Amino acid sequence: MKRIILLGLMALAVSNVAAQKSNSLKKAFQNKFYIGTAMNLEQIHGTDTKSVEIIKKQFSSIVSENCMKSMYLQPQEGKFFFDDADKFVEFGEKNKMFIIGHTLIWHSQAPDWFFVDKDGKNVSPGVLKQRMKNHITTVVSRYKGRVKGWDVVNEAIMEDGSYRKSKFYEILGEEFIPLAFKYAQEADPNAELYYNDYNEWHPGKVKTVTQLVKDLKSKGIRIDGVGMQAHVGMDTPSINEYEKAILAYAKTGVKVNITELEISALPSPWGTSANVSDKVAYDEKMNPYKNGLPKDVQTQWENRYQDFFKLFLKQKNNIRRVTLWGVTDNQSWKNDFPIKGRTDYPLLFDRQFNAKPVVEKLIKLAETK
Ligand code: XIL
Repeated sequence: MKRIILLGLMALAVSNVAAQKSNSLKKAFQNKFYIGTAMNLEQIHGTDTKSVEIIKKQFSSIVSENCMKSMYLQPQEGKFFFDDADKFVEFGEKNKMFIIGHTLIWHSQAPDWFFVDKDGKNVSPGVLKQRMKNHITTVVSRYKGRVKGWDVVNEAIMEDGSYRKSKFYEILGEEFIPLAFKYAQEADPNAELYYNDYNEWHPGKVKTVTQLVKDLKSKGIRIDGVGMQAHVGMDTPSINEYEKAILAYAKTGVKVNITELEISALPSPWGTSANVSDKVAYDEKMNPYKNGLPKDVQTQWENRYQDFFKLFLKQKNNIRRVTLWGVTDNQSWKNDFPIKGRTDYPLLFDRQFNAKPVVEKLIKLAETK
Protein backbone atom coordinates (compact mmCIF):
# COMPACT_ATOMS: atom_id res chain seq x y z
CA MET A 1 0.00 0.00 0.00
CA LYS A 2 2.80 2.39 1.01
CA ARG A 3 4.57 1.59 -2.25
CA ILE A 4 1.49 2.43 -4.26
CA ILE A 5 1.15 5.77 -2.50
CA LEU A 6 4.85 6.44 -3.06
CA LEU A 7 4.57 5.58 -6.76
CA GLY A 8 1.51 7.82 -6.99
CA LEU A 9 3.41 10.69 -5.41
CA MET A 10 6.35 10.13 -7.74
CA ALA A 11 4.04 10.18 -10.78
CA LEU A 12 2.52 13.40 -9.50
CA ALA A 13 5.97 14.93 -9.09
CA VAL A 14 6.94 13.88 -12.63
CA SER A 15 3.77 15.36 -14.10
CA ASN A 16 4.39 18.57 -12.15
CA VAL A 17 7.84 18.81 -13.66
CA ALA A 18 6.27 18.25 -17.09
CA ALA A 19 3.72 20.96 -16.40
CA GLN A 20 6.48 23.34 -15.35
CA LYS A 21 8.54 22.49 -18.37
CA SER A 22 5.65 23.35 -20.63
CA ASN A 23 5.00 26.88 -19.44
CA SER A 24 6.71 28.54 -22.39
CA LEU A 25 7.51 28.06 -26.04
CA LYS A 26 11.15 28.78 -25.30
CA LYS A 27 11.45 25.89 -22.87
CA ALA A 28 9.40 23.49 -24.94
CA PHE A 29 11.50 24.05 -28.07
CA GLN A 30 14.90 24.45 -26.42
CA ASN A 31 16.32 21.20 -27.74
CA LYS A 32 14.71 21.53 -31.17
CA PHE A 33 15.40 24.97 -32.65
CA TYR A 34 15.40 28.62 -31.61
CA ILE A 35 11.92 30.06 -31.40
CA GLY A 36 11.87 33.76 -32.11
CA THR A 37 9.85 36.88 -32.69
CA ALA A 38 10.22 40.14 -34.56
CA MET A 39 10.33 43.26 -32.37
CA ASN A 40 8.84 46.65 -33.19
CA LEU A 41 9.93 50.01 -31.76
CA GLU A 42 7.49 50.05 -28.82
CA GLN A 43 8.88 46.71 -27.73
CA ILE A 44 12.50 47.68 -28.32
CA HIS A 45 12.08 50.84 -26.24
CA GLY A 46 10.10 49.01 -23.57
CA THR A 47 6.94 51.18 -23.73
CA ASP A 48 4.83 48.15 -24.66
CA THR A 49 5.55 46.43 -21.35
CA LYS A 50 3.06 43.60 -21.82
CA SER A 51 4.60 42.46 -25.09
CA VAL A 52 8.07 42.74 -23.59
CA GLU A 53 7.02 40.38 -20.80
CA ILE A 54 5.76 37.88 -23.39
CA ILE A 55 8.96 38.15 -25.42
CA LYS A 56 11.18 37.51 -22.38
CA LYS A 57 9.13 34.54 -21.27
CA GLN A 58 8.37 32.86 -24.59
CA PHE A 59 11.14 33.48 -27.11
CA SER A 60 14.82 32.55 -27.41
CA SER A 61 15.60 34.65 -30.48
CA ILE A 62 14.73 38.13 -31.75
CA VAL A 63 14.89 40.03 -35.02
CA SER A 64 14.13 43.71 -35.64
CA GLU A 65 10.94 44.18 -37.65
CA ASN A 66 12.09 47.45 -39.25
CA CYS A 67 14.83 49.39 -37.49
CA MET A 68 17.80 47.61 -39.10
CA LYS A 69 16.63 48.17 -42.65
CA SER A 70 18.94 50.42 -44.68
CA MET A 71 16.55 53.40 -44.92
CA TYR A 72 16.55 53.63 -41.13
CA LEU A 73 20.21 52.79 -40.50
CA GLN A 74 21.63 55.08 -43.18
CA PRO A 75 18.96 57.61 -44.17
CA GLN A 76 21.60 59.84 -45.77
CA GLU A 77 24.89 58.77 -47.23
CA GLY A 78 27.43 58.40 -44.44
CA LYS A 79 24.93 59.49 -41.76
CA PHE A 80 24.11 56.42 -39.74
CA PHE A 81 21.36 56.21 -37.13
CA PHE A 82 21.97 53.41 -34.63
CA ASP A 83 19.91 54.39 -31.57
CA ASP A 84 17.05 51.93 -32.14
CA ALA A 85 19.26 49.10 -33.36
CA ASP A 86 21.61 49.54 -30.40
CA LYS A 87 18.69 49.24 -27.98
CA PHE A 88 17.43 46.15 -29.80
CA VAL A 89 20.80 44.42 -29.57
CA GLU A 90 21.17 45.40 -25.89
CA PHE A 91 17.77 43.87 -25.15
CA GLY A 92 18.77 40.62 -26.83
CA GLU A 93 22.06 40.40 -24.98
CA LYS A 94 20.52 41.19 -21.64
CA ASN A 95 18.00 38.42 -22.13
CA LYS A 96 20.48 35.94 -23.62
CA MET A 97 18.74 35.72 -26.96
CA PHE A 98 19.99 34.63 -30.36
CA ILE A 99 20.00 38.00 -32.15
CA ILE A 100 19.25 38.31 -35.85
CA GLY A 101 19.94 41.34 -38.05
CA HIS A 102 17.37 42.04 -40.76
CA THR A 103 18.37 43.03 -43.41
CA LEU A 104 21.53 44.31 -45.16
CA ILE A 105 20.72 44.33 -48.87
CA TRP A 106 17.07 44.66 -49.88
CA HIS A 107 15.52 46.65 -52.73
CA SER A 108 12.65 47.71 -50.44
CA GLN A 109 12.91 50.08 -47.47
CA ALA A 110 16.24 51.21 -48.90
CA PRO A 111 16.98 54.96 -49.05
CA ASP A 112 16.68 56.49 -52.54
CA TRP A 113 20.18 57.97 -52.47
CA PHE A 114 21.71 54.49 -52.41
CA PHE A 115 21.30 53.99 -56.15
CA VAL A 116 21.59 57.45 -57.70
CA ASP A 117 24.06 60.30 -58.14
CA LYS A 118 23.37 63.96 -57.42
CA ASP A 119 21.52 64.32 -60.74
CA GLY A 120 19.25 61.40 -59.93
CA LYS A 121 20.91 59.07 -62.46
CA ASN A 122 21.86 55.48 -61.62
CA VAL A 123 25.34 55.30 -60.14
CA SER A 124 28.07 53.21 -61.80
CA PRO A 125 28.67 49.59 -60.71
CA GLY A 126 31.84 50.74 -58.94
CA VAL A 127 29.99 53.34 -56.86
CA LEU A 128 27.19 50.95 -55.92
CA LYS A 129 29.72 48.30 -54.84
CA GLN A 130 31.46 50.90 -52.67
CA ARG A 131 28.14 51.95 -51.09
CA MET A 132 27.16 48.34 -50.42
CA LYS A 133 30.55 47.64 -48.90
CA ASN A 134 30.44 50.73 -46.71
CA HIS A 135 26.91 49.99 -45.49
CA ILE A 136 27.53 46.32 -44.77
CA THR A 137 30.94 46.84 -43.18
CA THR A 138 29.76 49.67 -40.93
CA VAL A 139 26.63 47.86 -39.74
CA VAL A 140 28.04 44.34 -39.34
CA SER A 141 31.24 45.53 -37.63
CA ARG A 142 29.26 47.57 -35.12
CA TYR A 143 27.48 44.44 -33.89
CA LYS A 144 30.33 42.00 -34.46
CA GLY A 145 30.02 38.96 -32.19
CA ARG A 146 26.68 40.24 -30.85
CA VAL A 147 24.30 39.85 -33.79
CA LYS A 148 24.64 36.14 -34.44
CA GLY A 149 23.07 35.92 -37.88
CA TRP A 150 22.33 38.33 -40.74
CA ASP A 151 19.76 38.29 -43.49
CA VAL A 152 22.43 39.42 -45.93
CA VAL A 153 20.24 39.56 -49.03
CA ASN A 154 16.45 39.73 -48.96
CA GLU A 155 14.00 38.95 -51.79
CA ALA A 156 16.23 38.90 -54.86
CA ILE A 157 14.50 36.06 -56.74
CA MET A 158 11.04 35.92 -58.31
CA GLU A 159 8.60 32.99 -58.23
CA ASP A 160 9.51 31.96 -61.78
CA GLY A 161 13.13 31.67 -60.73
CA SER A 162 14.32 34.82 -62.51
CA TYR A 163 16.23 37.57 -60.72
CA ARG A 164 14.16 40.49 -59.46
CA LYS A 165 14.83 43.54 -61.60
CA SER A 166 15.82 45.68 -58.62
CA LYS A 167 18.26 48.58 -58.71
CA PHE A 168 20.94 46.26 -57.32
CA TYR A 169 20.36 43.88 -60.23
CA GLU A 170 19.99 46.61 -62.82
CA ILE A 171 23.33 48.15 -61.90
CA LEU A 172 25.40 45.13 -60.86
CA GLY A 173 23.65 42.07 -62.27
CA GLU A 174 23.72 38.79 -60.30
CA GLU A 175 27.09 39.73 -58.83
CA PHE A 176 25.51 41.89 -56.12
CA ILE A 177 24.62 38.77 -54.15
CA PRO A 178 28.08 37.17 -53.83
CA LEU A 179 29.51 40.63 -53.16
CA ALA A 180 27.10 41.24 -50.29
CA PHE A 181 27.97 37.89 -48.69
CA LYS A 182 31.69 38.55 -49.12
CA TYR A 183 31.49 41.98 -47.46
CA ALA A 184 29.44 40.56 -44.58
CA GLN A 185 31.80 37.65 -44.06
CA GLU A 186 34.80 39.99 -43.98
CA ALA A 187 33.14 42.24 -41.41
CA ASP A 188 32.22 39.40 -39.02
CA PRO A 189 33.70 36.02 -39.95
CA ASN A 190 31.76 34.29 -37.17
CA ALA A 191 28.26 35.57 -37.89
CA GLU A 192 25.86 33.24 -39.68
CA LEU A 193 24.90 34.56 -43.12
CA TYR A 194 21.53 33.95 -44.76
CA TYR A 195 19.63 34.46 -48.00
CA ASN A 196 16.00 35.31 -47.12
CA ASP A 197 12.85 35.41 -49.26
CA TYR A 198 9.05 34.92 -49.36
CA ASN A 199 7.28 32.13 -51.24
CA GLU A 200 10.44 30.10 -51.07
CA TRP A 201 8.47 26.89 -51.44
CA HIS A 202 7.63 27.97 -55.01
CA PRO A 203 9.38 25.49 -57.38
CA GLY A 204 10.88 28.31 -59.50
CA LYS A 205 12.41 29.97 -56.44
CA VAL A 206 13.61 26.66 -55.02
CA LYS A 207 15.48 26.00 -58.25
CA THR A 208 17.27 29.35 -58.42
CA VAL A 209 17.91 29.70 -54.67
CA THR A 210 19.45 26.20 -54.42
CA GLN A 211 21.61 27.07 -57.44
CA LEU A 212 22.58 30.34 -55.78
CA VAL A 213 23.70 28.51 -52.63
CA LYS A 214 25.79 26.10 -54.71
CA ASP A 215 27.35 28.95 -56.71
CA LEU A 216 28.29 30.87 -53.57
CA LYS A 217 29.86 27.79 -52.04
CA SER A 218 31.77 26.96 -55.22
CA LYS A 219 33.25 30.49 -55.15
CA GLY A 220 34.39 29.86 -51.56
CA ILE A 221 31.85 32.32 -50.18
CA ARG A 222 30.11 31.25 -47.00
CA ILE A 223 26.34 30.98 -46.71
CA ASP A 224 24.95 29.28 -43.61
CA GLY A 225 21.25 29.34 -44.13
CA VAL A 226 18.25 29.97 -46.29
CA GLY A 227 15.48 31.97 -44.63
CA MET A 228 11.96 31.02 -45.63
CA GLN A 229 9.79 33.98 -44.61
CA ALA A 230 6.58 31.95 -44.25
CA HIS A 231 3.93 34.66 -44.58
CA VAL A 232 1.40 31.94 -45.25
CA GLY A 233 -2.35 31.61 -45.56
CA MET A 234 -4.94 29.02 -44.60
CA ASP A 235 -4.63 26.94 -47.79
CA THR A 236 -1.46 27.80 -49.63
CA PRO A 237 1.20 26.50 -49.61
CA SER A 238 0.60 22.82 -48.91
CA ILE A 239 2.65 21.24 -46.13
CA ASN A 240 3.96 18.75 -48.64
CA GLU A 241 5.24 21.50 -50.93
CA TYR A 242 6.82 23.22 -47.96
CA GLU A 243 8.61 20.06 -46.87
CA LYS A 244 9.97 19.51 -50.36
CA ALA A 245 11.50 23.00 -50.31
CA ILE A 246 13.06 22.50 -46.84
CA LEU A 247 14.61 19.25 -48.03
CA ALA A 248 15.92 20.85 -51.23
CA TYR A 249 17.64 23.64 -49.29
CA ALA A 250 19.01 21.26 -46.67
CA LYS A 251 20.49 19.12 -49.42
CA THR A 252 22.75 22.01 -50.47
CA GLY A 253 24.34 21.86 -47.02
CA VAL A 254 22.73 24.91 -45.39
CA LYS A 255 20.28 25.17 -42.52
CA VAL A 256 16.75 26.40 -43.03
CA ASN A 257 15.40 29.30 -40.94
CA ILE A 258 11.69 29.92 -40.84
CA THR A 259 12.04 33.68 -40.49
CA GLU A 260 8.76 35.60 -40.62
CA LEU A 261 6.05 33.13 -39.77
CA GLU A 262 2.43 34.14 -39.42
CA ILE A 263 -0.76 32.51 -40.69
CA SER A 264 -3.33 34.96 -41.98
CA ALA A 265 -6.91 33.93 -41.21
CA LEU A 266 -8.29 36.26 -43.88
CA PRO A 267 -9.09 35.68 -47.52
CA SER A 268 -6.16 36.60 -49.76
CA PRO A 269 -6.51 38.42 -53.06
CA TRP A 270 -3.63 36.44 -54.58
CA GLY A 271 -2.23 33.66 -52.42
CA THR A 272 0.80 34.31 -50.25
CA SER A 273 2.91 37.01 -51.87
CA ALA A 274 4.71 39.27 -49.39
CA ASN A 275 5.95 41.83 -51.85
CA VAL A 276 5.59 44.90 -49.66
CA SER A 277 4.93 47.30 -52.54
CA ASP A 278 1.86 45.36 -53.73
CA LYS A 279 -1.33 46.93 -52.39
CA VAL A 280 -4.96 46.02 -53.01
CA ALA A 281 -7.95 48.34 -52.48
CA TYR A 282 -10.13 47.82 -49.39
CA ASP A 283 -13.23 45.73 -49.93
CA GLU A 284 -15.69 44.88 -47.14
CA LYS A 285 -15.95 41.27 -48.35
CA MET A 286 -12.24 40.81 -47.73
CA ASN A 287 -12.58 41.83 -44.06
CA PRO A 288 -15.10 39.28 -42.79
CA TYR A 289 -14.05 38.80 -39.12
CA LYS A 290 -14.00 42.30 -37.65
CA ASN A 291 -15.51 41.09 -34.37
CA GLY A 292 -13.64 37.83 -33.94
CA LEU A 293 -13.02 34.54 -35.69
CA PRO A 294 -15.96 32.12 -36.02
CA LYS A 295 -15.34 28.81 -34.21
CA ASP A 296 -14.84 26.77 -37.38
CA VAL A 297 -12.31 29.23 -38.81
CA GLN A 298 -10.55 29.33 -35.44
CA THR A 299 -10.23 25.54 -35.43
CA GLN A 300 -9.01 25.48 -39.01
CA TRP A 301 -6.42 28.16 -38.18
CA GLU A 302 -5.19 26.26 -35.10
CA ASN A 303 -4.88 23.07 -37.13
CA ARG A 304 -2.89 24.90 -39.76
CA TYR A 305 -0.40 26.16 -37.12
CA GLN A 306 -0.10 22.67 -35.71
CA ASP A 307 0.46 21.18 -39.15
CA PHE A 308 3.30 23.60 -39.81
CA PHE A 309 4.90 22.92 -36.43
CA LYS A 310 4.57 19.16 -36.93
CA LEU A 311 6.54 19.65 -40.12
CA PHE A 312 9.14 21.87 -38.43
CA LEU A 313 9.57 19.31 -35.66
CA LYS A 314 9.87 16.49 -38.16
CA GLN A 315 12.55 18.50 -39.98
CA LYS A 316 14.20 19.80 -36.81
CA ASN A 317 17.63 18.57 -37.85
CA ASN A 318 17.45 20.82 -40.90
CA ILE A 319 15.90 23.79 -39.10
CA ARG A 320 17.91 26.22 -37.00
CA ARG A 321 15.20 28.71 -36.06
CA VAL A 322 11.48 29.43 -36.32
CA THR A 323 10.67 33.13 -35.91
CA LEU A 324 7.16 34.60 -35.70
CA TRP A 325 6.68 37.98 -37.40
CA GLY A 326 5.48 39.72 -34.23
CA VAL A 327 3.84 38.99 -30.89
CA THR A 328 0.17 40.05 -30.82
CA ASP A 329 -2.46 40.26 -33.56
CA ASN A 330 -3.01 44.02 -33.33
CA GLN A 331 0.68 44.68 -34.04
CA SER A 332 0.83 42.50 -37.13
CA TRP A 333 1.62 44.13 -40.47
CA LYS A 334 -1.03 41.75 -41.92
CA ASN A 335 -3.81 44.07 -40.69
CA ASP A 336 -2.59 46.45 -43.40
CA PHE A 337 -1.11 44.12 -45.98
CA PRO A 338 -1.99 43.52 -48.75
CA ILE A 339 -5.20 45.41 -47.95
CA LYS A 340 -5.13 48.33 -45.54
CA GLY A 341 -7.48 48.45 -42.53
CA ARG A 342 -8.49 44.82 -42.00
CA THR A 343 -8.68 42.81 -38.77
CA ASP A 344 -6.45 39.76 -39.02
CA TYR A 345 -5.55 37.05 -36.49
CA PRO A 346 -2.21 35.73 -37.69
CA LEU A 347 -0.06 35.52 -34.53
CA LEU A 348 0.10 33.45 -31.33
CA PHE A 349 -1.04 36.15 -28.86
CA ASP A 350 -4.37 37.97 -29.03
CA ARG A 351 -5.25 41.66 -28.84
CA GLN A 352 -5.46 41.46 -25.03
CA PHE A 353 -1.91 40.05 -24.81
CA ASN A 354 -3.18 36.57 -23.91
CA ALA A 355 -1.60 33.42 -25.29
CA LYS A 356 -4.09 31.82 -27.68
CA PRO A 357 -5.05 28.20 -26.97
CA VAL A 358 -2.80 27.13 -29.84
CA VAL A 359 0.30 28.07 -27.80
CA GLU A 360 -0.37 25.26 -25.32
CA LYS A 361 -0.96 22.91 -28.24
CA LEU A 362 2.36 23.79 -29.86
CA ILE A 363 4.13 23.30 -26.53
CA LYS A 364 2.55 19.84 -26.20
CA LEU A 365 3.61 18.99 -29.74
CA ALA A 366 7.20 19.96 -28.98
CA GLU A 367 7.23 17.83 -25.88
CA THR A 368 5.88 14.73 -27.56
CA LYS A 369 7.97 14.88 -30.73
C1 XIL B 1 7.36 44.55 -43.06
C2 XIL B 1 7.07 45.14 -41.68
O1 XIL B 1 6.43 44.14 -40.90
C3 XIL B 1 6.19 46.36 -41.79
O2 XIL B 1 6.07 46.99 -40.52
C4 XIL B 1 6.78 47.35 -42.80
O3 XIL B 1 5.88 48.41 -42.99
C5 XIL B 1 7.05 46.67 -44.14
O4 XIL B 1 7.87 45.54 -43.93
N1 XIL B 1 9.26 40.75 -45.91
C6 XIL B 1 10.26 41.22 -45.09
C7 XIL B 1 9.92 42.09 -43.94
O5 XIL B 1 11.42 40.79 -45.24
O6 XIL B 1 10.95 43.01 -43.66
C8 XIL B 1 8.62 42.82 -44.15
O7 XIL B 1 8.30 43.53 -42.95
C9 XIL B 1 7.52 41.85 -44.55
C10 XIL B 1 7.87 41.13 -45.82
